[in-house]
Amino acid sequence: MKHFLDINATDPADLRRMLDEAHRIKAARKGQDKGVPDDEQALAGKVVALIFEKPSTRTRVSFDVGVRQMGGETLVLSGSEMQLGHGESIPDTARVLSRYVDLIMIRTFEESALQELAEFADVPVINGLTNRTHPCQIMADILTYEEHRGPIAGKKVVWVGDGNNVCASFIHAAGQLGFDLTFTGPERLDPEREAVEEARAKGADIVIERDPHEAVKGADLVVTDTWVSMHDAPSTRERRHNMLRAYQVNERLMAQAGAEALFMHCLPAHRNEEVTDSVMDGPQSVVFDEAENRLHAQKAIMRWCLDV
Ligand code: CP
Ligand code: NVA
Repeated sequence: MKHFLDINATDPADLRRMLDEAHRIKAARKGQDKGVPDDEQALAGKVVALIFEKPSTRTRVSFDVGVRQMGGETLVLSGSEMQLGHGESIPDTARVLSRYVDLIMIRTFEESALQELAEFADVPVINGLTNRTHPCQIMADILTYEEHRGPIAGKKVVWVGDGNNVCASFIHAAGQLGFDLTFTGPERLDPEREAVEEARAKGADIVIERDPHEAVKGADLVVTDTWVSMHDAPSTRERRHNMLRAYQVNERLMAQAGAEALFMHCLPAHRNEEVTDSVMDGPQSVVFDEAENRLHAQKAIMRWCLDV
């Protein structure tokens, strides 16, 4: 069973295969490759369940559209409307859904819920974000980086702000795909130690630098994310903003990074909080390419999971 649960749980050769496939799928869709895209019927006769226990725009739409473009069908399910949200266990949900659908994508809270679903499902499971990780996002981000600048191996990525779920998946990717990552943010919001140590053990240079202006020097890519994630209690908002204000990505910070550095944000962005309008809409920003690339990357992920 080929689940796509985490970047660090997926063989680097498979990650590379999926990225190359995503690139090819995108080129074919845009008519840059000759002939019609050969993914049009890859999911014919297949049904994909998309389960959301948290809000979503990009993940929901890109998975839904991706399945349709490949000739399959989707069921978009809200956790709270399923028995799952009213006491039915994850193992039983996994066993039942496996009798109906060919693939399950889930956005949930605890990583353990994702792992349990995968353990008891007889069909592949894809991680559409947990409190701890967001691997589909990072596949799209790497696809985006490589489209603009070529191979990411050996490059310097700087994560600015909260060491959250998206940051953890970026750190996993550094270990798997051979790039370096500097985290800059307040100590209270450092990325999880386990991800940092694991990426270091795989040879990635993972640096923690408190000074954002120092951190972004020599960056090939600057990345940030919201200061308050969906799993963070709303009551922590003010405290988090106070801790993170010094880590806003603005023109002054991007000037330190240099004109060649790209800017990414997984979106949704809180404009003029973690990033200014001038950076979001500026020449270094590739945020909407990232959003588009969710579609192409996830099509490659689904094809890999289903061997089609
Ligand atoms: N980046 C991302 O996962 O966006 P959504 O929350 O809109 O799915
Ligand atoms: N860190 C954010 C990412 C949203 C796509 C969150 O978990 O809310």
